[in-house]
Amino acid sequence: WATMAEDAEAILKLKRERRAVILAHNYQTPDIFHGVADIVGDSLALAREAEKADADVIVLAGVHFMAETAKLMNPSKTVLIPDAHAGCSLAESITAADVALLRAKYPGRPVVAYVNTSAEVKAASDICCTSGNAKKVVESLGVPEVIMLPDEFLAQNVAKETGVKIIAWKGHCEVHERFTPQEILQLRQTHPGVVILAHPECPPEVVEVADFSGSTAVMADYVREKKPARVALITECSMSDNIAQNAPETEFVRPCNLCPHMKLITLKNIRRALEEMQTEVTIPAELFAPARRAVERMLAVK
Ligand code: 13P
Ligand code: SF4
Repeated sequence: WATMAEDAEAILKLKRERRAVILAHNYQTPDIFHGVADIVGDSLALAREAEKADADVIVLAGVHFMAETAKLMNPSKTVLIPDAHAGCSLAESITAADVALLRAKYPGRPVVAYVNTSAEVKAASDICCTSGNAKKVVESLGVPEVIMLPDEFLAQNVAKETGVKIIAWKGHCEVHERFTPQEILQLRQTHPGVVILAHPECPPEVVEVADFSGSTAVMADYVREKKPARVALITECSMSDNIAQNAPETEFVRPCNLCPHMKLITLKNIRRALEEMQTEVTIPAELFAPARRAVERMLAVK
């Protein structure tokens, strides 16, 4: 059994040998986030960085749809995911056949797919969005009504911010759907002065009683720039662990829910992924062009 330090050291060596970079989502544990990752960020940053990555191999320390997006944006690279079972309750809530039914039911409405979807669903959609750009993407379409899937709560939160009518799907993030407004109000009582930042995958009633809502990168920027004395990040547990290391002046109140999919990725399986060059993520040929187009359109929205 190798220790954590031995695994981390082996990973750093393998990265050089394989000419590999590790892109890690903000929900990865600190040993990955601070220890071995080359680039960390929210879903939007990881998509942008994957496109730019100058390496032979991209290891995506995150969930499967993120690795698919990386492959779509940089197809000549070998993209590895350390555990191919790292899924997402949102991505699993909808298929391309469901998108076709929605289009038939609501003809003429553009389909905005959250990046938390499979390549198959992206290919059936017009444009992607992330929690970091959903408002801009919806507004960029310049229409009064859109279909936005699969996250019902993100759709409701964006509808409130934009005034665009949104036809939603009933998918939920199993991490964020569990937060309640009661929990937030309780936090305010027990931790006076706490600034509450909620992820837009939370139910609208939760976002309503928070001080601010934004993607994981927006939360990290808020803490870095505003240096609040006390903060609660209403999101996955590793988020606070990761940013607390660089924010000694901030007290982190930590109500959090764990994402079991993100937590499938470990130092051990990152090491194994690089040793064995497994599991390689590929996109079926017929899906590649339309799925990439949806992501490219999103990245073109300024
Ligand atoms: P962002 O990092 O883009 O805010 O997404 C959160 C999330 O749940 C990703 O799985
Ligand atoms: Fe999916 Fe939610 Fe986990 Fe993100 S936190 S991967 S949205 S289940």
